[in-house]
Amino acid sequence: MVKPEKFVENAIQEIRNIVGDSKAIIALSGGVDSSVCTVLGYKAIGKNLIPVFVDTGLMRLGEPERIKEIFEDMNLVFVSARDEFLSALKGVEDPEEKRKVIGELFVRIFERIAKEYGAKYLIQGTIYPDIIESQGGIKSHHNVGGFPIDYEFEGVVEPLRELYKDEVREVARYLGLPNEISERMPFPGPGLAVRIVGEVTPEKVEVVRKANAIVEEELKDYEKWQCFAALVGKATGVKGDNRVWGYIISVRAVGSRDGMTADPLSVDYNVLRRIALRITGEIPEVSRVVYDITPKPPATIEYE
Ligand code: XMP
Repeated sequence: MVKPEKFVENAIQEIRNIVGDSKAIIALSGGVDSSVCTVLGYKAIGKNLIPVFVDTGLMRLGEPERIKEIFEDMNLVFVSARDEFLSALKGVEDPEEKRKVIGELFVRIFERIAKEYGAKYLIQGTIYPDIIESQGGIKSHHNVGGFPIDYEFEGVVEPLRELYKDEVREVARYLGLPNEISERMPFPGPGLAVRIVGEVTPEKVEVVRKANAIVEEELKDYEKWQCFAALVGKATGVKGDNRVWGYIISVRAVGSRDGMTADPLSVDYNVLRRIALRITGEIPEVSRVVYDITPKPPATIEYE
């Protein structure tokens, strides 16, 4: 890659050349790619950029609030859609169906905003490895979160198409984005929903979100690809004088080069113990904590 300074200059020029005086929309997820594109887009076309963040209610603790803070001066359109997503997910147990429901609802919301604001161009944070993957025909270019957009754009701009992830992170640092964005762990599009095995309910989302915050905090000094909590079922436990039927939280922490294969981290036993004590102590609904020691393959990194 050219130096970040030169890359940024070129990207801004490219966006200006293509979008001109029209409006461009971008789906901001809070991940490093879409965040970098949002900053580049804003630098290029200012108020003609429409960054859309959809709060699905499936993000991690404090994340939507932080995204609002970081991007609110960049014309952010913050869509609160928690109830919509939760009701769409009611009764859905099948993992693929869950992803489909979330993806489609997301795209419909995004299309509505594009229409409302009269956006003529789409900016996408596609990076080089995405293009390589899509050559198999898996992903089409006019996609948001893997789902086709019906809305007709005059053009699509992909300023990061020649960069690898570590180069995007370098640009993010150069642009002054906070560490939590430039160094952010991968987080799946369907969010916490794929870290809840079976039906998603408001209670389960709340439980897994709290547990996840504890896992991230306790493992912050470990070198890793990802670490998180997943809610995998229910089990009997004893809390106080009572037998309870509580949730089982599985702790997942893996090292990986590209997410294609992964190995569980060898986490210090005392750290694991502390995680178990904190999760069961701080979250009354949880009765059991396990550590997932399965590599990928055969297990995937996420649970659904
Ligand atoms: P799996 O679970 O397939 O995940 O081993 C491999 C990597 O991909 C991430 N992942 C996703 N990322 N949208 C994304 O942007 C998704 O729907 C999605 N599903 C999984 C996962 O976090 C891991 O890093």
